[in-house]
Amino acid sequence: MIREELAKRKLPSPFVDENGVQITTAEQWEKHREKIKKILSYEEYGNLPGKPDEMFFTTVSSNERFCASEATHEKIIMTIVMNGRAFSFPFYFTYPNKPGKFPTVILINFKADVPHRYLPSEEINAQDVAVASFCYTDFTADDWDFTNGFSGVLFPDGKRGPHDTGKIAMWAWAAMRIFDYLETRDNVDLNNVSVAGHSRLGKTALYAGAFDERFAFAYSNDSGCGGAAISRDKVGEDLTAVYTRFGFWFCEHFAKYQGKEHSMPHDQHFLHALVAPRNLYVASAETDQWADPESEYLGCIAAGQAYEYYGKKPLVYPDRFPEVDEVLHDGTIGYHLRSGSHYFSRRDWNYFIKYMKENKR
Ligand code: GCU
Repeated sequence: MIREELAKRKLPSPFVDENGVQITTAEQWEKHREKIKKILSYEEYGNLPGKPDEMFFTTVSSNERFCASEATHEKIIMTIVMNGRAFSFPFYFTYPNKPGKFPTVILINFKADVPHRYLPSEEINAQDVAVASFCYTDFTADDWDFTNGFSGVLFPDGKRGPHDTGKIAMWAWAAMRIFDYLETRDNVDLNNVSVAGHSRLGKTALYAGAFDERFAFAYSNDSGCGGAAISRDKVGEDLTAVYTRFGFWFCEHFAKYQGKEHSMPHDQHFLHALVAPRNLYVASAETDQWADPESEYLGCIAAGQAYEYYGKKPLVYPDRFPEVDEVLHDGTIGYHLRSGSHYFSRRDWNYFIKYMKENKR
């Protein structure tokens, strides 16, 4: 039944090369995935910036009495030097007050607050998981201004070319730089670093996991259009709706696909495929029709082949759409459909942490 649902969407395959030849081995896929990245960059998200020339990290506060002295909360300022310009932004690192190397989640968040309604720090740290989080607008504004924050480092005059970086790629790039920081810490389990986000930042987390192979897990919560949901024949938000209000999330070239989803050479499952053989986790919410849980689920299924190249089970799913509160944790892609509405809840976190621990490397 699901295969028929998928066939109706008439998706382009990420698993054939430009001559129409099927990719059959992991070696071929490793080469081909670079082309998939180019397609996603050229068509949708714009080019990911290169590495900074220099980076500095300054710890400006450290509170060892965070959460009844069970954890430490640090505020760190990152300074990036690039293109002859310097830009600084704050981020936050909380970790349990015990010895050890902790699996760590980089959370791209809506606010700097720690804890925050989407970041239940105490519950997370108590499960021996560390979190590095930042507020996305501290990096660059969520609007058409391309001179603000880090955008100004890339585009001093605010002018972008048609395939230049959109804001999603910039926020994802910030998460990658926080990974660079984590590499300097000795209490981080670098083999088990996740990137996570909700909604527009769930789109960003999926993109970050796809483009930076250091992430062992990418967790995309209720991300919908331009995120985990297939764009072709999606319900709720479509490309016209997202581009009209939030065109700056993407490259300018992406504008041409408004109302023309079926003419794209790619679809969102190209991103899911790039995460292989690492773990991808997609979460949907029952009443979140704007994001479209069914299209998010289909995106996971459509990417399965990429995981099979590596001998991994992709999403292990029943041959139907998921039921409310169904949790699919048996594959290298994890999925759940939480009851309730668009939100990043405690339950979402707990499902994900359970999955992450079960799939630790
Ligand atoms: C809007 C937008 C979505 C986005 C969401 C959010 O609803 O249309 O694409 O995911 O905002 O980030 O909260």
